[in-house]
Amino acid sequence: MTALKSAALQTTTVALASDAVPFAIRAERASDVAARETLLDACFGEDRHTRTCQRLRDGRAPAEGLAFSAVHDGRLLGTVRLWHVSAGGVPALVLGPLAVDASARSLGVGAALMKHALAAAKAHGHQAVILRGDPAYYERFGFSAGKTGQLALPGPFERERLLAVELCEGALDEAWGMIVATGSKARRQSRARLAARSRKAVALAA
Ligand SMILES: CC(C)(COP(=O)(O)OP(=O)(O)OC[C@H]1O[C@@H](n2cnc3c(N)ncnc32)[C@H](O)[C@@H]1OP(=O)(O)O)[C@@H](O)C(=O)NCCC(=O)NCCS
Repeated sequence: MTALKSAALQTTTVALASDAVPFAIRAERASDVAARETLLDACFGEDRHTRTCQRLRDGRAPAEGLAFSAVHDGRLLGTVRLWHVSAGGVPALVLGPLAVDASARSLGVGAALMKHALAAAKAHGHQAVILRGDPAYYERFGFSAGKTGQLALPGPFERERLLAVELCEGALDEAWGMIVATGSKARRQSRARLAARSRKAVALAA
């Protein structure tokens, strides 16, 4: 493993969002999953599984080492994951969902998660990251629709919200066609099991 790679894959990066709220970005843990589901329900609604990008995640595991949590005092503040896809034949990652708890917004948690995720993706040797989201937020991290004009998602999407950043210049030059999931299959977890894990985490924290 190169020095760059080992540095970027440190499990914990402490970022100071403000003088009052230090938080850490670290690899997602199994014990985060229930709180993460609750956070995603709050941010995107319980019908979030019908969203187009979910078709790229159904039944798949996130890319190895590329799921991160922002935590403060043992509480999950934010989450981001990256997923293997083929972007019209070009290997790439899709990022999402990115979510930050409403009580912790505008403190830099989202930016810290994005920067950590992109640095880790680069350190793992990935060449491009794609997402569906607001250009006004994601362009600060280098995303644009400049290289996605020939790509499509497996469902409805707004062309101007399909964004990408190349981690290696020219990586998406030949990307043309449908974006499809290529990640390994996920182990199934029922919501009942997630709820039980959540109750256990709450009990341990109390
Ligand atoms: C988008 C989100 C992850 C940002 O998290 P965050 O921790 O508040 O982000 P940061 O602190 O790094 O940045 C906050 C800044 O981004 C701006 N911002 C947030 N969402 C934005 C959006 N959709 N478009 C443009 N700007 C946005 C905020 O107004 C804020 O601006 P300011 O610094 O001038 O006050 C968070 O608002 C969230 O979870 N939203 C609900 C889920 C969601 O929409 N996820 C993204 C899917 S596209």
